[in-house]
Amino acid sequence: MCWIFWYRGKNDAVKILLHGLERLEYRGYDSAWVFVKKQSWDKSRIRAVGKVSALNWKVTDFLDAWYTQWIAHTRRATHGGVTEQNTHPHISNDGNRTIVHNGIVENYASIKKDLIKKWYRFDSETDTEVVANLLEEIHKDSKSMLETTQELQKQIRWAYALLIMHEGTPDTMIALRLWSPLVYAYNSEGEQYFSSDTQALSGYADKMIYLEDGDLIKVQWNDYTILSNGDVTKRDIETFDQKILEASKGEYKHFMLKEIYEQPAIIKRIYKWRVSFENNSLHADAFHGMGNESIKQITTVACGTANNAGWLWTYRFETLSKIPSHNEIASEYENKPFFLDESKLHIFVSQSGETADSLEVLKMLKEQGGKSFGVVNVVGSSIARMTDSGLYLRAGTEIWVASTKAFMAQSMCLLLVSLFLGKRRGMRLSKYQQIMRELEHLPSYIETVLDQTDHIRSIAMDLMQYKNFFFLWRGYQYPIAAESSLKFKEITYLHSEAYGAGELKHGSLALISEEMPTIFNLPNDEMFEQNLSNFQEIRARKGKICVIGDKRVEEADRQITIPETIDEIYPFLTAVAGQLLAYHVADLLGNDIDKPRNLAKSVTVK
Ligand code: AGP
Repeated sequence: MCWIFWYRGKNDAVKILLHGLERLEYRGYDSAWVFVKKQSWDKSRIRAVGKVSALNWKVTDFLDAWYTQWIAHTRRATHGGVTEQNTHPHISNDGNRTIVHNGIVENYASIKKDLIKKWYRFDSETDTEVVANLLEEIHKDSKSMLETTQELQKQIRWAYALLIMHEGTPDTMIALRLWSPLVYAYNSEGEQYFSSDTQALSGYADKMIYLEDGDLIKVQWNDYTILSNGDVTKRDIETFDQKILEASKGEYKHFMLKEIYEQPAIIKRIYKWRVSFENNSLHADAFHGMGNESIKQITTVACGTANNAGWLWTYRFETLSKIPSHNEIASEYENKPFFLDESKLHIFVSQSGETADSLEVLKMLKEQGGKSFGVVNVVGSSIARMTDSGLYLRAGTEIWVASTKAFMAQSMCLLLVSLFLGKRRGMRLSKYQQIMRELEHLPSYIETVLDQTDHIRSIAMDLMQYKNFFFLWRGYQYPIAAESSLKFKEITYLHSEAYGAGELKHGSLALISEEMPTIFNLPNDEMFEQNLSNFQEIRARKGKICVIGDKRVEEADRQITIPETIDEIYPFLTAVAGQLLAYHVADLLGNDIDKPRNLAKSVTVK
């Protein structure tokens, strides 16, 4: 996917655009460009493959010039290779339409074939250039740019955020949104912006409007009109809260480390907002939409790290709320029957609220009348707005591509949901009070793990020489081992696999050797003894083992000690240990931790 940032105003546009692109940089891309325009005859497209910094030196000639329109864009290749030719914007054959696009036009190939028959030529391999020439073709029969664009909406399929400039109407910018996020923003100085992400607008815009799926917005210098299915419509104008969006690394070497260390404070914040201290109960209003007694089955739906969080809490929905629950990976679930009925609730877990795979399922579910609840971080994001009700994570802006603090916040919110439901379904009061007591201690428990960062780094020094790893689990520790393994892969680029301790002897034990270390989530829970026998299996085959657990395991090669607690709380602690371990191995390997290769922060394409 790509990220769009458009500015129009009288300040130094280049600096604003490049700063905006740098703020989007953590989202992953492989080429960038800015498009500048003074008058229709005086416009330039400056494009660079690689990091935004590669663009910096190319725009020096434009730094002092005053231009009316500037668009910046980072591209992550979907159609066509990583070449300057394929970077945006793309211009129609007649030179009159300039298009910038985030998303995928699913039916571009058939459109391109028809346009080639009509003698259109193409300089790139992109679907975006097809849109530019399709606009030119449609315009031949339409009276205005607006009508042309409305006809375009009927002809192109699926995900896009499009910015369209036309030479005939230089003061007008038209934008379309279907699935890929797009925000229109402005400030009291009359400066105007479009951005794929609110993060880039921080410090510039005062007001912003989240465009909805199917919206067409026509922006002129001091006015805008939004059309939805051809009818003029209004969208909420949100005021910017700069402090939430202001994200900086502070004294940390990486955003990842900053966000890992934010976790105790985030747990405290969520606890404060969702739990009333008087009687240690949960704010019922926080769980609006959850009080429904008819919920008799829960399915969590998500991707990646968010999927591991959703998966983890299906265990607690069953043990605490006595509701049969299971987890679905969104990209798989869209091809399966939903078996909907009145008693089934789907919980969508997402940091960005824009993940295309999750959105696809949510859209299908809503079309079939299914009930949905969102556990989402980004305020006003698509999943947050499309679910029937939900909880915001309140984790603050998560910069780091591979999620840490959002995972912790998702886990905290989902545990509170399971407690909220459990209290209404006969959970023993003593159990409820025990968990609430441990939740109060959770921030300090996490700090105890964080305080071992130097010790964990020494373990990382041992591990960094290896190429393959097992992350071993049993029971409810499975999603945590999966999450630790995912973190490991995302930033160390070393291969790891989460594997069931009890399953190892049925084949994969063959991999155990001195060359394949195991990280074993081994808390002192009711499965401890079973786990110890698996531990011995590995030791007997000279496998090296790093234990993550509260009870000392004398024969472990290394151990990360976590505080003793209860089963519902152990996952938070083994997760933090796994985050730090992955961080230190990646840092010792010299990897670009905040911009891991091939990854994007929000995967807004399927
Ligand atoms: C970044 O790669 C994350 N680790 C990724 O797996 C992410 O959790 C997944 O893409 C879902 O994103 P979401 O939480 O924004 O929906």
